[in-house]
Amino acid sequence: MTISEGIMDYCWKNEYKLNINIIDEQHKSLFDAIEDLEKLINSEGNQSHAVDALLALLIHYTDYHFKAEEQLLEKIGYPDLPQHCQLHKELKNSVLNFLQEQKEKTLDVNNFLVFLRYWLVKHILVEDRKYANFLQKKGQNLGNISL
Ligand SMILES: [Fe+2]
Repeated sequence: MTISEGIMDYCWKNEYKLNINIIDEQHKSLFDAIEDLEKLINSEGNQSHAVDALLALLIHYTDYHFKAEEQLLEKIGYPDLPQHCQLHKELKNSVLNFLQEQKEKTLDVNNFLVFLRYWLVKHILVEDRKYANFLQKKGQNLGNISL
């Protein structure tokens, strides 16, 4: 499988839904931002400023999303919140390393996008699914919860 086939494989799918609208929308926005950035870097011409801006937005949004998710998990009394926060922290540290590379102009944006998309899919399907199952067991429907 080539890298671009791998990327195609990681587009947003309905099966990623946790049936918590606010979280599903944020997850989808993250995939959309990754896709926009990918299109930009694959398009013709020198768009490094646009890439920088979109990259910054993506990083900012990831942080915003993690905070919202952690706030939600606290609200519902999710017992594995510390472990979940730890996973978010690890991703943030990886992103900081990528950012450092960007500053040093050594960042391979494609590589960063593959990493981020792979991480997101794995996280949503495995770790985020755990709290969705926890909610289901508790019989709580948070479909339309707001934060
Ligand atoms: Fe998460």
